[in-house]
Amino acid sequence: MAVKRVLVTGATGQTGAIAVQKLRERSDEFEVVSFVRSEAKAQEKLGSLEGVVIGDMKDRESVDQAIAGCQALVILSSSIPVMKEPPQPGQRPEFEFPPGQTPEDIDYNAQKTLIDAAVAAGIEHIVQIGSMGGTDENHYLNTLGKGNILIWKRRAEQYLIDSGIPYTIVRAGGLIDEPGGRREIVVGKDDAFFIPDSHMPHKLPRADVAEVVVQALREPNARNKAFDVVTREEGEAPPTSDFAALFAQTTPGL
Ligand SMILES: NC(=O)c1ccc[n+]([C@@H]2O[C@H](COP(=O)([O-])OP(=O)(O)OC[C@H]3O[C@@H](n4cnc5c(N)ncnc54)[C@H](OP(=O)(O)O)[C@@H]3O)[C@@H](O)[C@H]2O)c1
Repeated sequence: MAVKRVLVTGATGQTGAIAVQKLRERSDEFEVVSFVRSEAKAQEKLGSLEGVVIGDMKDRESVDQAIAGCQALVILSSSIPVMKEPPQPGQRPEFEFPPGQTPEDIDYNAQKTLIDAAVAAGIEHIVQIGSMGGTDENHYLNTLGKGNILIWKRRAEQYLIDSGIPYTIVRAGGLIDEPGGRREIVVGKDDAFFIPDSHMPHKLPRADVAEVVVQALREPNARNKAFDVVTREEGEAPPTSDFAALFAQTTPGL
């Protein structure tokens, strides 16, 4: 089997660094190109600068350089809200996005840049990580920094589908920093896990998202699928090991 060269954006992010580590461990299958903004952060988060390319996803030239020769793209980058100042006791914290780093800039326009570059480079598959909640324009996360983050992410998902590149859109529930591989992973659609009757937790470990990314790159039936993903509590059900069966439950289209 030929080694697949994969560009990962957000490689120094919390989930991105785990995904890079998992892909590096499968060097017989994957060669990882980690797209990062800071060499120092890459050294710190990824342990080595092997396969690291410095760039900014708002800058098409740096994206073109990083994506050249790759067969797949994993989008794990995201705009990041910043707390304005520590809240007064009993008050909710207020958030903002730095200028040029809003959800419209990063989650929509910069993702469009990535997808356009992927089309031009002949990329064969894009795995895009988004967030659950995008069916509800009034979702709390849209109010953070008045960024409408879920709305822009969902528009980018539609842009990817319309690009014609085979896609896997993974809409994660709330991410937690717990060990991966210990829970049953459950997939759904249209934010059905938010319906109270679903009785589903809305959380999952970042390490499980990273594993879904790796398996989506491997399993043919993850292609042209978009799905929500959460996990059951540890011990509630056997941990997921059959990813072909998991992706068989997922469906095409937004
Ligand atoms: N947090 C949650 O509970 C939650 C829930 C559902 C879904 N998600 C989604 O899951 C994904 C992973 O989340 P996470 O918490 O692991 O991510 P994260 O730690 O916030 O990482 C985001 C990454 O995006 C990168 N980035 C931002 N702007 C960039 C730019 N202009 N050019 C290149 N890279 C840029 C950041 O780079 P630097 O390292 O240089 O800052 C960082 O590595 C995100 O799409 C997130 O929205 C999160």
